[in-house]
Amino acid sequence: MKRGLFITFEGPEGSGKSTQLRILGKRLRGKNLPVLETAEPGGTPIGLQIRRVLLDAKNQELCPTAELLLMFAARAQNVDQAILPALAAGHVVLCDRFTDSTLVYQGAARGLGTELVYEVDRIACRGLVPDLTLVIDVDIETGLARAHRRNQRTQDSETRLDEQSLEFYRKVRAAYQQLAEDEPRRVKVIDGSREEEDVKKAVWEAVQAPLQTLLA
Ligand SMILES: Nc1ncnc2c1ncn2[C@@H]1O[C@H](COP(=O)(O)OP(=O)(O)OP(=O)(O)O)[C@@H](O)[C@H]1O
Ligand SMILES: [Mg+2]
Repeated sequence: MKRGLFITFEGPEGSGKSTQLRILGKRLRGKNLPVLETAEPGGTPIGLQIRRVLLDAKNQELCPTAELLLMFAARAQNVDQAILPALAAGHVVLCDRFTDSTLVYQGAARGLGTELVYEVDRIACRGLVPDLTLVIDVDIETGLARAHRRNQRTQDSETRLDEQSLEFYRKVRAAYQQLAEDEPRRVKVIDGSREEEDVKKAVWEAVQAPLQTLLA
């Protein structure tokens, strides 16, 4: 039984997903709403072990199908162990990337096809679809520059998926835009190129309608 609200953050690298998710989480908690913040791949101890395999720059030979199944293995664990119980308890669940990322990266950009992704999604997520998906959008150069600066600061080694061609990133961005066109009620594009404060305002506006439904 689902009672809470499931909001996912999507968008290309460095667009500000994690930043905005944290800000929104804090804001909702400030309103005394119970919030679960989670991220993919990861979210659970098992998911984090799978994440290490997926993002390790040394794993260049990981084939697209194995990559797809590992993503969904981590997701299935997160759905079962964390997301569904939190939703059943009436929490607002904020998830940093979800099935739309797999649709866009593996389905579209890597060319596995969206049908295949939906097929595995049916097994892993068993009908769980976000109530709202915020695509934080920036142009490729801005996003990569932001992510690059951040990774240098944090000495991030989770870079396997960050080292793709510009053509790959162009496909990612176009696929997100297509998704928003195909599912306008669920998927909202937010211009992430603006100041953090302005993006925060746009995110807050976008969550008002589903929040009212939750609180009604
Ligand atoms: N609106 C903004 N303007 C300028 N810099 C920003 C903005 N939002 C976030 N940043 C900075 O850009 C970097 C990337 O932001 P963040 O980690 O939130 O992006 P992300 O979309 O989660 O990236 P990734 O796809 O790698 O997970 C961070 O250093 C963050 O502080
Ligand atoms: Mg992030």
